[in-house]
Amino acid sequence: MKLYIISNRLPAKACKEKNGTFIFSRSEGGLATGLNSLKTTDEKHWIGWPGICVDKKEDEQIISEQLEKLNFHPVFLSCDQYKNYYEGYSNSTIWPLCHYFFAYTEYKNCFWKAYQEVNALFCEKICSIVSADDYVWIQDYQLMLLPGMLRKRMPHLRIGYFHHIPFPSYELFRILPERGEILQGLLGADFIAFHTHDYMRHFISAAERVLNIDFQLDEIQIGNRVIRVEALPMGINYDLYHSVSENPEVQKAINRFQNLFGNHKMILSVDRLDYSKGILHRLWGFSLFLEHHPEYLGKVTLAMVIVPSRDQVNQYAELKTKIDEEIGAINGKYSTIDWTPVCYFYHGFSFEELAAMYFVADIALVTPLRDGMNLVAKEYVATKQNNPGVLILSEMAGCAVELTDAIQINPNDIEEIEQAIVKALEMPEREQKNRINHMQAILSNQTINKWAADFMTEWNDICSKNQRFRLK
Ligand code: G6P
Repeated sequence: MKLYIISNRLPAKACKEKNGTFIFSRSEGGLATGLNSLKTTDEKHWIGWPGICVDKKEDEQIISEQLEKLNFHPVFLSCDQYKNYYEGYSNSTIWPLCHYFFAYTEYKNCFWKAYQEVNALFCEKICSIVSADDYVWIQDYQLMLLPGMLRKRMPHLRIGYFHHIPFPSYELFRILPERGEILQGLLGADFIAFHTHDYMRHFISAAERVLNIDFQLDEIQIGNRVIRVEALPMGINYDLYHSVSENPEVQKAINRFQNLFGNHKMILSVDRLDYSKGILHRLWGFSLFLEHHPEYLGKVTLAMVIVPSRDQVNQYAELKTKIDEEIGAINGKYSTIDWTPVCYFYHGFSFEELAAMYFVADIALVTPLRDGMNLVAKEYVATKQNNPGVLILSEMAGCAVELTDAIQINPNDIEEIEQAIVKALEMPEREQKNRINHMQAILSNQTINKWAADFMTEWNDICSKNQRFRLK
């Protein structure tokens, strides 16, 4: 038996060099990073998009050959499909809707058509590879029609689905013209899970009201199948982050950063460029902090890492300009010859450098307006080992349910962000360590492997139940 993980993006992406050769690197984003560190006893395969649109069959072949060596099976998209399915329906319709950015949602027929087309393309690819007794675990909002499509083709296949972003309340979800088809698509899975109980509750209420069906607690019978839903918060590879300082590369980077930031406090912020992450609110809060607390001028630096993402989608490109302007305004106003308040990086970092930043940072400032989970907050806490450190966390992040020892804030209240920064800077070391240790106890238990094992256990349980049901 094999486990097939299906996601829009493979954990590796291909990039074409000027001389025509391809180079491969790791993909950004919590999903790929998190799931790639997953250990299973089953042979693990991955099906997804390789991060590039190529128009020659020979190029597809070269990319496939390289990726297949890692058990990664690419699904190739045309430029039009990429535009309308990925930038369009996935990231201009579903993403803003699920993150409560209702005014940003765009409805276009060509988006929906491409979304159906690409989900069907994934379905074809899966059917050409998997056997009836394999596990097919579909990830995330880009592939919500896929469980239903697969169920029609392979009625007894084990199909699981995990939703990595928020599932909005029915009042919002009902706005989507294709709400019925999407929900029917999801119900093609045997087991559907979400990060939090609230997302799960919203899904159940949307399904009941849109499709006129009735759940019995967390299960529903449709035809000869029972479908179960559950809340399972995704964890991180805790040991990897908790032991980073033993890695000589990380240690070297730690020494470098400690020399750079040694005499003042460092606040760290790490995100993909996204309006849901509250990056502007964070900058407004930091700016207010500088304005109201001149005693900290020259003593606190905000290191802001923004990983480029979806920059062809209008809202993202506009946000980039606003962030650049805001950072320019803060630095222009407060910088001195030997101090720049916001150290801004618009690119990704290697794992080693990022881990070193987590290790060195006195404070992590995580202020999403909405976030399915947010693994950065978890990675920061794990990396602190037995050292002090403070997490300032938005209550709108899925992980706020678990990380109750963070200083929790409402990111829409920028004065609250300002006050949280002051509170964090003034928090006694003993309290910092206590809070970090409490959160570490939770994270070291709910790891990525535990999350996957819990998912598999419940999924297996419901599949066996359905099998017994069919045999009756
Ligand atoms: C979030 C989503 C993932 C997505 C990732 C990166 O974590 O839940 O499904 O892969 O963002 O976004 P991108 O559009 O670059 O794949």
